Amino acid sequence: MERHETMFAESPLHPQTPLHASDEPYSDEVLEQLRTDAAAIIARYPQKRSALLPMLHLVQSVDGYVTGRGVNFCAEQLDLTTAEVSGVATFYTQYKRHPNGDYTVGVCTNTLCAIMGGDQIFDELSEHLGVGHDETTEDGKITLERLECNAACDFAPVMMVNWEFFDNQTPESSKQVVDRLRSGEPVAPTRGPSRVCTFKQVSRVLAGFPDGLADEGVGAGEASLQGTRLAKEQGWAAPGEQQDGTTTDTEATPQAEDGDVERGGYGSVNTPANEADELPETKEDGQ
Ligand code: FES
Repeated sequence: MERHETMFAESPLHPQTPLHASDEPYSDEVLEQLRTDAAAIIARYPQKRSALLPMLHLVQSVDGYVTGRGVNFCAEQLDLTTAEVSGVATFYTQYKRHPNGDYTVGVCTNTLCAIMGGDQIFDELSEHLGVGHDETTEDGKITLERLECNAACDFAPVMMVNWEFFDNQTPESSKQVVDRLRSGEPVAPTRGPSRVCTFKQVSRVLAGFPDGLADEGVGAGEASLQGTRLAKEQGWAAPGEQQDGTTTDTEATPQAEDGDVERGGYGSVNTPANEADELPETKEDGQ
């Protein structure tokens, strides 16, 4: 027991968390701007407490992570307890509880990316940067993370920098990206805007203050578009939708009754392409 108390007393929550630093009050100037921004965010919601998620991003846009003073600020502005604010801030991985680097480099190590090289990329990046998962380089530039699926599996293995996509990565290409970021070079993602913004800049956008870059650059890459083209060529449509994107009259769509699934027509659009496949002949005794 005594040994544990000593360990906790000597160990910060995270190697780079300056103890108590987050309790330093905001300057008058920063606080005034925060209050102005908070009022704009809160005005978007019928209830104050609904503004908590963007408010936490706002705090990160100023402090670089969710600080103790940021938690207090959110609680005051939204009539919440600090425990309620902390409960939300510790639930979502996009909220950081210790100082974050200028660039969060997330390597997808979910199943598809992992087998396409994501695990190798993470391991080599970790060694190259000298940090592990959720740790930040000494220069404060890069925070390395393992990420779950980014819904970009058609570009596996995928890396994200401040939530911009870097598709079809290799260990070498990912190391080049972090080296360029650390040297201060502008770096463009594979899709999206012409440059990657800093963590604080992106946090302000996530708080609901657009930087005008949301629609810049290519959104869907070639691999994704191939699926759309194939669907058009084959006349396929999603259940409940026509080829032109309009919704079908569900009354007219054949539905199964009493749990008896109608072949090729259960809640879907009956196009020639999705009619039921031929089923193998069954023997009379059902075997
Ligand atoms: S598994 Fe990596 S983007 Fe889906």
